[in-house]
Amino acid sequence: MKFPPFVHSFPAPAVLIGCGTINHPNIITCSWFGTVCSEPPMVSVSVRKPRFSYHLIHETREFTANLPLRSQIDIIEYCGTKSGRDVDKFKKLGLTAVPCPPLENAPMIAECFLVLACKVTQTLELGSHDIFIAEVVSIHGDEKAILPNGRPDPCPSEQVVYLNGKYWSLTEIQDRVYQK
Ligand SMILES: Cc1cc2nc3c(=O)[nH]c(=O)nc-3n(C[C@H](O)[C@H](O)[C@H](O)COP(=O)(O)O)c2cc1C
Repeated sequence: MKFPPFVHSFPAPAVLIGCGTINHPNIITCSWFGTVCSEPPMVSVSVRKPRFSYHLIHETREFTANLPLRSQIDIIEYCGTKSGRDVDKFKKLGLTAVPCPPLENAPMIAECFLVLACKVTQTLELGSHDIFIAEVVSIHGDEKAILPNGRPDPCPSEQVVYLNGKYWSLTEIQDRVYQK
């Protein structure tokens, strides 16, 4: 059977995007977030133009990608259903907006265990969404959880992905086996 084209079959990480400024911070939940380059490290996030956050990211050309844990699912849901036009999401959720150096404007969420500081380098207008492509200029992580490779633990089993209107968690299947 042939179906009309769509893109919703893939699990996507639920990320809390911090934007605006320390004095006027906002958070938008985005699951259309991805890795696009390793050198330099770059990510992308797709945002609809009518979102309040769209204009904040567009103006400052900065955002933070705050990785939430499954225990923070209520924050994911709230920031993905309420607009910063109507409510101060940091205040309402009791979250703390802190500076995210070297970014000059976009705040990070102190309560998140891993945060990517992102500087927008390109914006692509695609249709329903625009993609902000950004360089990851620093990473702020929990100093208690550092892996042998010196990187912060991404806590895969605690991360949340979004698919078909539901939240899912990740489970490990096996180590990667690479054969030449
Ligand atoms: C799980 C989830 C994922 C979402 N992903 C996106 C996304 O990738 N891009 C987007 O523009 N909106 C996405 N949204 C919708 C926005 O988060 C939502 O419209 C939000 O209220 C916008 O906030 P703002 O008006 O403060 O910017 C998502 C919502 C949820 C619940």
